[in-house]
Amino acid sequence: MLRLPIVPVLDRRHDAPDALAPHPAVPASPRDDLRDENLHSLLVDFYSVLAADALLARYFASLDMPAHLPRIVDFWSTLLFQTGRYSGNAFRPHLDMPGLTGERFSRWLATLETTVDASYAGPNVERMKALARRIAYSMQVRLGIAPAAEDRPSRL
Ligand code: HEM
Repeated sequence: MLRLPIVPVLDRRHDAPDALAPHPAVPASPRDDLRDENLHSLLVDFYSVLAADALLARYFASLDMPAHLPRIVDFWSTLLFQTGRYSGNAFRPHLDMPGLTGERFSRWLATLETTVDASYAGPNVERMKALARRIAYSMQVRLGIAPAAEDRPSRL
């Protein structure tokens, strides 16, 4: 006699999506795009990682962070949200930093990308990462440093 299963059997074929697993198109924790008011806390996180980084901590050890942070926030706010709050020269301080290398710029960029991706997602995040890459690239060229091949911006 044919016995029909009382409980439907889940399809466990190798190539079938696992019905019990979360759908891959739905992220575990949806993230919002970066906004102007998020820059301060994002950059606090970024600089706290840099300050503990084996390659980069030395540059930030004697920096007056409460004075530096608002300048950096204004810099990104002006680039990303056209607020016009930054009116400095972003390049000049890097002229006097001994030992800057492609590897150090690479670490700086990777840290920025990891920090921003951990909390936000969207067009502003992508613009921030692309701008950072372009600026880092042009800084290195002006400093006579060979940028790492993987840090070449997609469009100059
Ligand atoms: C290895 C890479 C880098 C290191 C070690 C580094 C380190 C520093 C340090 C220590 C200062 C403070 C200088 C001072 O006030 O005496 C500074 C300033 C600054 N940095 Fe960088 N930086 C790096 C890359 C970048 C990149 C790629 C950008 C832009 C995308 C950037 C943007 C700025 C800006 C806007 C300032 C503030 C300039 C001002 O005071 O108006 N830096 N950086």
